[in-house]
Amino acid sequence: MEDYVFDLIEQETKRQREGLELIPSENYVSKAVLKAMGSVLTNKYSEGYPSFEGITSWDDKKISNEILPNYRYYGGQVNIDRVERLAISRACRLFNADHANVQPHSGANANEAVYFAWCEPGDNILAMNLGHGGHLTHGSPVTRSARIYNFIPYGTTPDGDLDYGEIEKLALKNDIKLILVGYSAFMKIPDFKRVSEIRDKASKKWGHEICLMADMAHVAGLIAGGVHPNPLEFGFNVMTTTTHKTLRGPRGGLIMSMGKVNSPIKKISEKSLDNLPTMIDKAVFPGTQGGPLEHVIAAKAVAFGEALLPDFKEYAKKIVENAQALAKGLINRGFVLQGGGTDNHLILIDVMKSYGIDGKMYEKALDMVGLTLNANALPGDTGGAFRPNGVRLGTPAITTRGMGIKEMEKIADWMERVAKICQKTKDENELDDYKEEFDKIRNEVKNIASAFKLPTE
Ligand SMILES: Cc1ncc(COP(=O)(O)O)c(C=O)c1O
Repeated sequence: MEDYVFDLIEQETKRQREGLELIPSENYVSKAVLKAMGSVLTNKYSEGYPSFEGITSWDDKKISNEILPNYRYYGGQVNIDRVERLAISRACRLFNADHANVQPHSGANANEAVYFAWCEPGDNILAMNLGHGGHLTHGSPVTRSARIYNFIPYGTTPDGDLDYGEIEKLALKNDIKLILVGYSAFMKIPDFKRVSEIRDKASKKWGHEICLMADMAHVAGLIAGGVHPNPLEFGFNVMTTTTHKTLRGPRGGLIMSMGKVNSPIKKISEKSLDNLPTMIDKAVFPGTQGGPLEHVIAAKAVAFGEALLPDFKEYAKKIVENAQALAKGLINRGFVLQGGGTDNHLILIDVMKSYGIDGKMYEKALDMVGLTLNANALPGDTGGAFRPNGVRLGTPAITTRGMGIKEMEKIADWMERVAKICQKTKDENELDDYKEEFDKIRNEVKNIASAFKLPTE
């Protein structure tokens, strides 16, 4: 069928092929994930949940064979139930969770459902400051949850670690219901055990249960690949994630929880951490969403299956190796990195301190050579959200394409050359005057990028 849309998809394929994706929250899915997402499962309504009655092992074959009664509001679920059960069981295996809800349409929906499941309007939630690397959904005043709950932000220390002292002080000063550890720009490995101990102390002081939540949207693939600790193994009750970042699945959300696994329609008379899995199911549907996207859930099941394979461990290890090599290459070229480097897939550069240019201008200039990343605020950034002094980048996507240490050196080199061109003008509107210089770099980027195929080609 002729449609402008398909032309644009073709152009986007070309852009992805010829450039390098350095946005740390993006990745390239496999052919199998793309196929499941583009399947006829998109035609189906399936509000509700499948059941696991009588299923005692997470065996894929058994799970995809069993036809069981369900808790759905529409007929015709014979295949859908089995697909969703595969996604749930694989997620549980991947993250050692008691329960998984695979229906959240996005990471934001997943977070919102957890708050809705556990908190009452006005409850205090301790979460990371957006300006220090937290996410919008962790209490930014522009979000719906911030109108409902009272978010109390904690920050990072000057060397880029979580400020555990501040977390403890705030948790003992305010009667909190939930502590959230999660971030979109944080380069260290959190001390989950320490936060868990803080929660226990606060819980004793306030005389009630406090939910410990991790939003691992960025590092879920590293956890699945065994190169990052799993918060669920340190006393956390619930972990949300997106499925499309390091986890390399379709765009979507996922909630893993610990506790008793009951039927999703069981009446819950009292909120308790033990009942969290059921409370979360109810909070996703009907609490905050309608019909699940079963084509996306099928793609999640495929991606989780891929992440369970030994290859994925190798992939996760390489993401971190590449990020550390890229960080070193950048430092060697005069770039100042927040926290001095990285322990995960993420790098945050203070481009103002490094080259006297702001993040937005640098983002635009890098775009002109086919290197995609995003301007990002640094802790205490004077430029604000729209004109920050930093940029954020990462290695999940380029590692998927098969790049290694040699290519990281090349990228650091291109980034230095682009920064030096920007230094000549400092005016974003004059970047076109340097088109020739940018085009030269762009051709080099294109040549190397084209040698590393997209997984879907
Ligand atoms: C830590 C964190 N949580 C939640 C989200 C929201 O995910 P989504 O964009 O799928 O709603 C993001 C997205 O970048 C994130 O980084």
